[in-house]
Order: sequence, then C-alpha cells, then structure tokens
Amino acid sequence: MNVVILAAGQGKRMHSDTPKVLHALAGRPLLAHVIDAALELEPQRICVVYGHGGEAVREALAASTELRATTPITWVLQEPQLGTGHAVQQTLPHLIDGVPTLVLYGDVPLIRAATLRRLCAAAGAGMAVLTVELEDPKGYGRIVREGGTASGAVSRIVEQKDASPFEQAIREVNTGMMVVPTPKLKSWLTQLRNDNVQREYYLTDIVALAVADGVAVSSAQPHDVSETLGVNNRNQLAQLERAFQAHVAGELMGRGVTLADPARIDVRGRLACGRDVAIDINCVFEGNVDLGDRVSIGAQCVLKNVRVAAGTRIEPFCHMEDADIGANCRIGPYARVRPGTALAEDVHVGNFVEVKASRIGRGSKANHLAYIGDSDVGSSVNVGAGTITCNYDGANKHRTVIEDDVFIGSDTQLVAPVRVGRGATLGAGTTLTRDAPAGQLTVSRAKQVSLPGWKRPTKNK
Ligand code: UD1
Ligand code: CA
Repeated sequence: MNVVILAAGQGKRMHSDTPKVLHALAGRPLLAHVIDAALELEPQRICVVYGHGGEAVREALAASTELRATTPITWVLQEPQLGTGHAVQQTLPHLIDGVPTLVLYGDVPLIRAATLRRLCAAAGAGMAVLTVELEDPKGYGRIVREGGTASGAVSRIVEQKDASPFEQAIREVNTGMMVVPTPKLKSWLTQLRNDNVQREYYLTDIVALAVADGVAVSSAQPHDVSETLGVNNRNQLAQLERAFQAHVAGELMGRGVTLADPARIDVRGRLACGRDVAIDINCVFEGNVDLGDRVSIGAQCVLKNVRVAAGTRIEPFCHMEDADIGANCRIGPYARVRPGTALAEDVHVGNFVEVKASRIGRGSKANHLAYIGDSDVGSSVNVGAGTITCNYDGANKHRTVIEDDVFIGSDTQLVAPVRVGRGATLGAGTTLTRDAPAGQLTVSRAKQVSLPGWKRPTKNK
C-alpha cells in the first residue's frame, strides 16, 4: 500500500511558530502518531506532503529517534497549497501503481491501524471513505448517498461551503481518510477542477468521478469518533490529549493496574507494568518506564526512562530519570534520582536526597537531605542527614567510593576523589579529604570547648 499523509496546512489557529503537525500529543509530534499508525500497515511507500516553511517538519521528524521508520519517508513539498486534491497530486510520481493508496491527515493523530484495516477491507479492489455521523456536522464535507438514504450507495461528497441547505442537513461526514486504487487515483486527480466556492482542488471530488467511472465507493466507520478528530487549535489539542490518555489509562486498568484516578495520569511513551501495580494521582511517565510486580507510585511523581523492580515503593513527589531501581526499595518522598543511578535491593533514598551517576548497594540507606554524586556505595551503608559528596572541584568530576558497612555521621562532606574503607565510621561533621581506613572511626572536627564564667555582652547604655 501507498500512504499519503497531508500535512501542508499552516495551522494558523494554533497561533504558534511551530508547524501544527509538530505540536506534541503524549510527548510526540502529531505527525509521528499518524506515521506510527501507517507503519503498522507495513506500507511500501509513505509520502508526507508538507508546506512552504515546513522544512522544520521534515527535520524534526527525521531527528525523532522514537520513530520506528521501517519504511523510509518520502517528503513532498506542496507550494502553493491549492487544496487537498492538489496536495495528493504532488505525490503521484512516488506512488506505486500495483497497490492501493491510503490518504491520511497529519493533524488527525488518534487514528488506529485497526480502523484503517477495516477501511481497506471495505474498499476491496474499489474505493472506500472513512465516515462518521456527527450531531453537529458543520464545517465538514457531507456524504451524499443515492436516494438520500443511509443504505444508498455513496454518490459524491459536497463541502460545507458548496452544500445546499438540504445537503447541509446530512449528518454523515467525510473524515478525509480514504483508500483509492492508485492508477484510478492518478487519472481522476488530473480531471479535478477548482470551480467551487473556495477555488480549491478538492480531493473529495474524486468520489463522483469514481461513481461516473463505474467504481464502487464503499464506506467504513471508526471504532471511536476521536480517531477522526483533527487538531486546529490548542483547545482541540488538549481534548485529544485527554482522549489519548483516557485510552492509555483504560488499557492499563484492563491489564490489572490500579489507578487512583484514570483522569489524572499522563503517559508520554511506553509504560509497562507487572501485577498489582498501583499508581496514585498526577504521575507523569516519559520514555520507557518499567514497573515490576507490586510497585507502588505515590502522587505527583515524574518518571522518565526508569526501571523499578518488584515490591519497590516510590513515595509522593519524586523525580526520577534514567535510573535502575532494585526490588523492595523505598524512594522519597521528595527524592531526586538522576541519570546513571543504579540501586540494588532494599535501598532507602529518603526525603530531599539527590542521587546522580551512582551505584548504591543492597540494604543501604540515605534517608534525609543528602547528595550522592559520582559514587560507588557498598551494601549496608548508612548515610547520615546532610551528607554530601563534593564531586566537583570546579573543573572536573571525581568519584567517591564507600565500601560495605560504612556508617557516615550527619553533615559529613566527602571531598572526592576519596575512599571510605569497609566498616569505617565517619564522625558527624567530618570533612573527609583523605581516604578513611577500614574499621576505624575517622573524624575531623574542632575540639569542643566550654568557658566557665563567660558572660554574654550587655548593651551599652
Ligand atoms: C477536508 C475535506 C472535508 C472533510 C474534512 C475533514 C476536502 C476538500 N475536504 O476539509 O470533506 O470533512 O477535511 O476534516 O478534502 N492540506 C494540505 N494541502 C492543502 C490543503 C490541505 O496538505 O492544500 C491538508 C491539511 O494540512 C490538513 C488536511 O489536508 O491536514 C485537510 O485540510 P483542511 O483544510 O483541514 O480541510 P477541510 O477544508 O477542513
Ligand atoms: Ca480540517
């Protein structure tokens, strides 16, 4: 199959410097969603029609690593933009005759491959249009059927602006998506004229040409109307975002995930969950997130490219990125887990603790107000409140090594590069600038003095 995706429209009503089809839905450009649906059909060709100034579209999509572009995309410039029929005309040299052509819109992001397969099945060797019935069909092209009945064959499509009052009463509308036999498409498009109210070459006029040519025009309907809704303004974008997220939430719950409120979750990427996972309100998942069995995520967490093993509890207000969290850990509340963090089993990272590019061994705990950066922390280590690794000397980063069973007193600074030997204890308030030997107490602290007879100064009269 050939897939033609129309994306040359300006999107004026977005009031944005970003081309419309690059606006994000679930963290990815609208156009990427459409291309994904197309790719599921394993087409031989994908042509994207873009407009003048839309080079940004080309570049952004090419740069989008998330795009599983198994089929290379042919970019076709349409300049000027003289209508949907004119847009498809620009792609004709690239279309393969032996397979049908499917037309999609770059700003209709929720279309599903299953619906497109039904549309193709309805077309058979002929042509098919994806239609929906709307309460308020205003603005759309209307599906005119023979005899004016729902069972009559499709005879043509009339645009809102060209429709008679009688035709305007028709509630079955053209979604714009259609499948057409490619050699026929080529011949019909050359016959288009722009003698209509908008002075445009309408793709929709090929329906009447098909009928005149003796080619049957069938129709199919989507599973859900949201699949056919386009984005013309920020309001519609927000509505489709919610529709998308509601669908994702429904799927998660269908697979056994507990969501405190399915209306308050955002998945911008892929979220995989084991059994009995529970997610509280207002969490955002980005990139690839894997949650093991019985993992619970507290309210207001943001997780990006994180793997969390079974039984771990993430308390509210945690921010985690590019991290690998072992089983039965307890993170947060208010923890920041930054890229390159790997926690073994049973690790506790508590409130206002930041961990970056560090490994922390089994059973270790940093429960309050600490910074662990560029460190290798062994198992059963206790990091006291207010402890920080001074990993940056202003020019370079250095590593801190803390071996197993170390106890670090509160308010300790470890000036890297530095190593704390197995079983060592660091006294509270220590500024460690040299390695601390294993098994000993190391403390750097001014001696405490008390002055008997000392008096507070009093105010001069
Ligand atoms: C079109 C259909 C209408 C249908 C409606 C569904 C035509 C003539 N009309 O109307 O029957 O009900 O979509 O939303 O086809 N585009 C280009 N180049 C152009 C013009 C448009 O690439 O020269 C692209 C747009 O970027 C958009 C799509 O085609 O993705 C549809 O264009 P739009 O202007 O929204 O079409 P409508 O007039 O709404
Ligand atoms: Ca439109």
